[in-house]
Amino acid sequence: MSRKVYVFDTTLRDGEQVPGAKLNKRQKLEIAEQLARLGVDVIEAGFPCSSPEDLQAVKAVAEQVKGPIIAGLARAVAQDIDIAWEAVRQAERPRIHVFLGSSDIHLQKKLRTDRESALEQAVWAVTYAKKYCSDVEYSTEDASRTDFDYLCRVIEAVIKAGATVVNIPDTVGYAIPEEFGSMIKRLRERVPALDRVILSVPCQNDLGLAVANPLSAVKNGADQVECTINGIGERAGNAALEEIVMAIKVRPEYYNAYTDIKTQEIYRTSRMVSRVMNIPVQPNKAIVGSNAFAHSSGIHQDGILKDRRTYEIIRPEDVGIREHKLVLTARSGRAALRHQLGLIGYVLPEEQFERVYQRFLNVADRKKEVSSEDLISIVEIELTKVPETYSFHSIQIMSGNTMIPMASVTLTKGEQYLSEASTGNGPVDAVFRCIEKIVKKSAKLRDYDLKAVTTGTDALGEAMVRVEIEGTLYSGLGTSPDVIEASARAYLNAFNRYFAAKNGSNVK
Ligand code: KIV
Repeated sequence: MSRKVYVFDTTLRDGEQVPGAKLNKRQKLEIAEQLARLGVDVIEAGFPCSSPEDLQAVKAVAEQVKGPIIAGLARAVAQDIDIAWEAVRQAERPRIHVFLGSSDIHLQKKLRTDRESALEQAVWAVTYAKKYCSDVEYSTEDASRTDFDYLCRVIEAVIKAGATVVNIPDTVGYAIPEEFGSMIKRLRERVPALDRVILSVPCQNDLGLAVANPLSAVKNGADQVECTINGIGERAGNAALEEIVMAIKVRPEYYNAYTDIKTQEIYRTSRMVSRVMNIPVQPNKAIVGSNAFAHSSGIHQDGILKDRRTYEIIRPEDVGIREHKLVLTARSGRAALRHQLGLIGYVLPEEQFERVYQRFLNVADRKKEVSSEDLISIVEIELTKVPETYSFHSIQIMSGNTMIPMASVTLTKGEQYLSEASTGNGPVDAVFRCIEKIVKKSAKLRDYDLKAVTTGTDALGEAMVRVEIEGTLYSGLGTSPDVIEASARAYLNAFNRYFAAKNGSNVK
């Protein structure tokens, strides 16, 4: 009989360990609500002892997000466990997730302890966490490089102490799929008590095997996979949720398993995580990349037209990408826009809809067609709007390979029109300098990414920036058919976040 594989999402913990991707409370909540809609079984909302802000953010997720189990990570020490419990205790279904190294290299070099003392600490930590919470997950960190007999002893001992989930991490992405799967099988044979708990696997991507390893583990008896949206995570990343879930869905006869993920929510979740964490998705990324369902060669197009199954193993609509691109033009009215927005899952209050409609017209005037991807981008910008201390009005650029690029920018502040001109190393740099002059603040550009939301020379350009202002990072997003205007809007958006934060809004 087909068995359920539990999906444990750690985008808000391991995903957040990507440099510069730190989230505030509001952002964590936004992503956590979407993860709940996606149908994950567990949300690891953070590492509460890592900072007072993270404690508050995990607490907010635990209090407000209904459905999934909410887990907080803790080292195997009292203070961490106390704080993790404080963070998750209000959840409908809380879980404390305790971890401790088990490989000799971790024990000797990192923890400066020995196997027996670590075993005692593991049992103590689970017993301590159990006093608070009935659901305790224990992770044998660096399991794939741990002596097998010792690993079995630790697992037996923590199950006896009350662990409800045992997690076998490939912490440094060292495992090879056949070997990892066979380890899971051998563990099940050697530790029969594993049948009473959930056997979980988290895998890192250092050798590019982060998805292959948990799939092999599932084939060999793992009950739970730990993963992140878009595969983001420490170093080379984590296992991509969408890839594991779709592999199990596309090959049910092979895995004899299923997940409860609502796969139609995958694309929207991917876009949201990319936008909020400001981490672009590579175009050829499986399942959610912009080229994942694009067919360009004549032979493939011919095949697709005859029968799409010739070159498509996943129906785009199964992951929330509409099969047929929506064709909206400047002549489309409000009704058509509302209908198309509904099809991609956005039902907006009247006032917000009107702003989206105006922005849609602005884009449609300059593009032949506005696709569903364009629409998602327009709406996402509206949904993440910050109070606009300064609003974009217009830009003019003079640039070429034989001249110094020059720009002039006009912004509005209330009723006032403010203009400045500047040169720069390139047109974007010149525009950024104009904005800095107008707002009378300078910023260090830490990250800048520009991509086309759709294809073609009239594609909507989406710019993402991360800037440092007075020692704090602010992100900004902007779209326009003109990439320099998109960049200007993104830069201004980051400044508006800075001004809003100064005025007391929580909008980094
Ligand atoms: O990879 C790892 O070991 C971890 C644990 C904390 C689960 O992330």
